[in-house]
Amino acid sequence: MKDVVGAPVVRADALAKVTGAVRYAADVPEPDAAHAALVTGTVARGRIVALDTAAAEAVPGVRLVITHRSPEAKLPPGGFLGAGEEFQSSVNPLASDEIHYTGQIVALVVADSVEAAEEAAHRVTAEYEPRPAHATLAEEMAGARLCEDLSIEVGDTERALAEAPFVVEAEYTTPAMHHNPIELYSTTAAWCDGVLTAHVPSQSVQSTRAALALMFGLPVGSVRVLSPYVGGGFGCKASVLWHTVLVAAAARSLGRPVKLIVPREQMFTVGSFRPQTRHRVRLGAARDGRLLGYEHHTWWQNSRADVLPLPGAESTARLYTSPNISTREYVVPTDVNTPGFMRAPAEFPAAFALESALDELAEALGTDPLELRLRNEPARDPVTGLPFSSRSMEACRRRGAELFGWSRRDPRPGSMRDRDGLLIGWGCASSCYPVLRTPSRARVRLTAGGRAEVLVAAHDLGTGAYTVLAQIAAQELGLPVTGVTVRLGDSGLPAGPMSAGSMTTGSAGSAVRAAARAVRDRLPATGTVADPPGGVLEAEAAWAPPELDAEAARRGLDAEARGFAQAGAVSATHAMFSHGAQFVEVLVDPGTRRIRLGRMVGVFACGRIINPRTVRSQLAGGMIWGAGHALLEETQVDPALARFTNTDLGGYHIACNADIGEVTVETVDETDEVVNPLGAKGVGEIGVVGTAAAVANAVRHATGIRVRELPVLVDDVL
Ligand code: MOS
Repeated sequence: MKDVVGAPVVRADALAKVTGAVRYAADVPEPDAAHAALVTGTVARGRIVALDTAAAEAVPGVRLVITHRSPEAKLPPGGFLGAGEEFQSSVNPLASDEIHYTGQIVALVVADSVEAAEEAAHRVTAEYEPRPAHATLAEEMAGARLCEDLSIEVGDTERALAEAPFVVEAEYTTPAMHHNPIELYSTTAAWCDGVLTAHVPSQSVQSTRAALALMFGLPVGSVRVLSPYVGGGFGCKASVLWHTVLVAAAARSLGRPVKLIVPREQMFTVGSFRPQTRHRVRLGAARDGRLLGYEHHTWWQNSRADVLPLPGAESTARLYTSPNISTREYVVPTDVNTPGFMRAPAEFPAAFALESALDELAEALGTDPLELRLRNEPARDPVTGLPFSSRSMEACRRRGAELFGWSRRDPRPGSMRDRDGLLIGWGCASSCYPVLRTPSRARVRLTAGGRAEVLVAAHDLGTGAYTVLAQIAAQELGLPVTGVTVRLGDSGLPAGPMSAGSMTTGSAGSAVRAAARAVRDRLPATGTVADPPGGVLEAEAAWAPPELDAEAARRGLDAEARGFAQAGAVSATHAMFSHGAQFVEVLVDPGTRRIRLGRMVGVFACGRIINPRTVRSQLAGGMIWGAGHALLEETQVDPALARFTNTDLGGYHIACNADIGEVTVETVDETDEVVNPLGAKGVGEIGVVGTAAAVANAVRHATGIRVRELPVLVDDVL
């Protein structure tokens, strides 16, 4: 039989999705449900001095208004995701009268209808005693705190930079950004005989279950969280959001199911976001382009309540070889909701800075920027000296250059024009993303007639997990992929990974493979998969990265445990990263200076490719998002009010088809026997990493103007 793994299998959920048959969390019918609406605060910092709910309670059909004074809001403390626990923030917004940021939840209204809940929410009035607040990084730089354990120190960078014949030094910034998945946040909670069932769009049903169990003092067996389909997550659904707990508390109080759908505008402050960043990069090089020193200091915007450590340089320090490397990561507390993970959270901002600086260095040296990158390709991990588990970066660069036609580039800025007289700019960049791995269980069941079922509490965020996990089981069992049904997104299934960090295929897939093998091994020698003994064969298997110690692996596998164990990209023996090279063409109107994307080429090396179709979509999607980061996306902040201003899809610009031009994606064949039994590295995030830098580099080539602040706008190239 032909291999199923490696085949471009069409998404198992494709038809159901495009025909509208898929039920997302908020679509699950709950006929008796009451409806909730949130009231959010209007000042950025201070105290609530008066909160009047009488008018809201008088709206016909209103059943409950929860504020910080309500018994429903008295909940145990919740821990922050970035500190290894579950919540978007350690601050329960209704814990007290304290206001920490604009748009903080100040009340939850529950009524018989959506209309009544919304009307009542508008009738809640609050008075505040405001305090001065700052929602931007720039205003709070003096409060920066160094994350000591994220620093990298190799050699003597200060001296190397002092002695290097060529040095470039520059600062780069990236703005706040919001995930904006099409599917809004929602929670539908119902209690029945002391058991809480919650439908929540989630990247981790297990941690959502653990958090709800903790909040209500329940054994985890009394909580079930369902999230079989997710309409985009990108990190914002990885953490548990406080409204989910408040909805469950309201449902318990009322003895009736409660449903909340969070409107787009409120999503900007009741969830997380990508924080503002600032970078100072210094690169020193020899005349022949060899890097002699790489220094990178990053400042990450944070909330005051929580510290989100983002080790961006952990990846960028692996892009090039340099005998001297010095990196620092600072967090800067500001008056905003706690930022969180958004696709390539640490890697994209850091790569924008380094990959722009490298281009500046190429110009200073008079060297082709691709050639400069090739000259500094490391043979081993420059930070630890360990071998890479696999690294096909050079192959990516050479193949990408060939597909793009890079050799035809005239290096002089503004020297290339298209037939219509538009300025052509060509830029390139490199990407890498760590191979993160987390423990997973999976169960595989083979039934008469040769059908198999795969069960794992992983998630499909629109990424193809249903399809890819079916392929892995089909391959092991010798079944056609249509003979395998996959069940995901139910906290009652065997513990699976949080769907984040580009981990699902490698981690859940390795467990599925092990479980399928265990089933296959129990087939009698003469038996066939169509005819299992006793009509059914079943096996559950666990997989954990060997680098996790037993306790960490147990925590990750034990469905009752809180938090998730995860192995980093550097083990005792290897450095493990996905790699890629991007090439971008921009077209700039010489008169209006409008910037358009012409085409993008990305070539990536991500170990074994389980499904080239879904992998292509992931990588192209990442590049498209990266291009949006380069030219469109920015959550704007009004410094006077310390609040986000463009909190809707009219004001917050996301790339659409007309913005993108032509996208070509290829992968290079790569064998990796270290990362996991499948040899598959992550594909979800790497596409985002270097794209924005490649765009900015292309803009520089077209216009002669170097833009160091994202997004690159017309105003920047006038
Ligand atoms: Mo993500 S930011 O790995 O969901």
